[in-house]
Amino acid sequence: MENEMNIREINEADIDPIVSYWKDSPEAYLKGMGIDTSDLSRFDGMPAGMRAELATPYEEKATYHLVAEVDGEAIGHTYVNRVVFGESASVHLHLWRNAEKGQGLGSKMVALALPVFFDRLQLQKLICEAAAINPAPNRTMAKLGFTFIKTYVTVPAGWNFELEVSRWELSREAFEDLYT
Ligand SMILES: CC(C)(COP(=O)(O)OP(=O)(O)OC[C@H]1O[C@@H](n2cnc3c(N)ncnc32)[C@H](O)[C@@H]1OP(=O)(O)O)[C@@H](O)C(=O)NCCC(=O)NCCS
Repeated sequence: MENEMNIREINEADIDPIVSYWKDSPEAYLKGMGIDTSDLSRFDGMPAGMRAELATPYEEKATYHLVAEVDGEAIGHTYVNRVVFGESASVHLHLWRNAEKGQGLGSKMVALALPVFFDRLQLQKLICEAAAINPAPNRTMAKLGFTFIKTYVTVPAGWNFELEVSRWELSREAFEDLYT
């Protein structure tokens, strides 16, 4: 697919599709990302959380979502959580439809999002901790120039069960070398 991609901040209309991506995904798909599927009611709180994000200034955001569009149609989202403004955040990446995976769109989405994350949140470091058994995000991080730090067992976020993750980091210096 050689179409134009752009990245933009989410708005109210993006909340439903993002929540649907999570709620409508098969359990096996969620488990493959290390998500604890024993209580899927956790997704019910997402709209309120995303509305709070929209109403919060950059300096205080705990999460920050961006949507990727191809020819004006939203195809996925990338977001950061664990945001410490002026310091660091953890990045996540999701294409919504299987048919669009593996064609370069996910890595392009994150490449376009990196300047936005680094600039708006004044980051010194961006972190990605992906399930070690999930090749797509791990290969994507390598492709984007993130440095592999280690593989270890942890509970990366509240939604996860304990799992082996691979930790990747992109420093501001490396970001500036590669992307500006
Ligand atoms: C992760 C994701 C956004 C990557 O986007 P994508 O468009 O599929 O990836 P790209 O086509 O840009 O490929 C990037 C790299 O990953 C590799 N890759 C992609 N899918 C892969 C797969 N299923 N198996 C092995 N490698 C894969 C590509 O070959 C490429 O690496 P290379 O340049 O060294 O060959 C997408 O696959 C996705 O949404 N997956 C499901 C959600 C998910 O697992 N998110 C991560 C949670 S931490």
